[in-house]
Amino acid sequence: MKTGITGGIRLPVPLRFRRGGHRKDPEKSLQSALDLLKWVDGHRPLEGARILDFGCGVKVAQALCQLDSPQAAYAGLDLYAEMIAFISEALRGDDRYAFYTVPFANEMYNPDGEEMHAGSELPLGDQRFDTLLMFSVITHMTPADTAAVLAILRRYASADARLLFWAFADPDQPEDFRDDNPARPLLRAKYNRDYLERLIAGAGWDIVLREPVGRAHRKERYVCSPAP
Ligand SMILES: C[S@@+](CC[C@H](N)C(=O)[O-])C[C@H]1O[C@@H](n2cnc3c(N)ncnc32)[C@H](O)[C@@H]1O
Repeated sequence: MKTGITGGIRLPVPLRFRRGGHRKDPEKSLQSALDLLKWVDGHRPLEGARILDFGCGVKVAQALCQLDSPQAAYAGLDLYAEMIAFISEALRGDDRYAFYTVPFANEMYNPDGEEMHAGSELPLGDQRFDTLLMFSVITHMTPADTAAVLAILRRYASADARLLFWAFADPDQPEDFRDDNPARPLLRAKYNRDYLERLIAGAGWDIVLREPVGRAHRKERYVCSPAP
């Protein structure tokens, strides 16, 4: 898989729609997404995959474009309607991409939205996906929303799917959950690792892999498969 940016950025994204630590540098931002996809590809090949990206932002779609769109299908869902409108328009006419605005509440991003629960439907009908992504999303979710979204995604997973996501998961944190900066709700949603892993199992997922992303915030990346 190519990992460098050659021939320039194919799908430029305005700063206001970019997320993450490298958002102010378009090349670094895209490169971080390409690195992420390389990791995904190692666990579930992108070629021909049906990908569901919850809390999608723009980065994964932008990186897939840069890679000549190897996937069979990509469905990106987010509660940020203006961003979804931008990326839908940018990829209009390419039927490998579909984007949806979801109505859910999140204290950081959408305090007036609808409560999410395990039975909440996504606008995806009876589609099933091989690769389910949730990067930097649980890092901004309450335990109730984390449990709900894990259960929701389970219903849209094919039998041999992989769910890949990041979370703050600290084996030594005394509380099950801590909102690290109450002045900025859900900026950093931190979990006790055993507690988070009980939520994962309770939603019907087996953990295939857990590995640290970096040491600063005890961030872990998880690969899960549907429990039989
Ligand atoms: C830090 S950004 C990460 C975006 C993208 N996954 C990435 O890695 O660049 C978190 C995203 O999750 C979305 N989000 C948070 N809570 C959500 C929810 N309950 N439903 C849908 N999207 C949500 C936000 O709107 C935001 O775009």
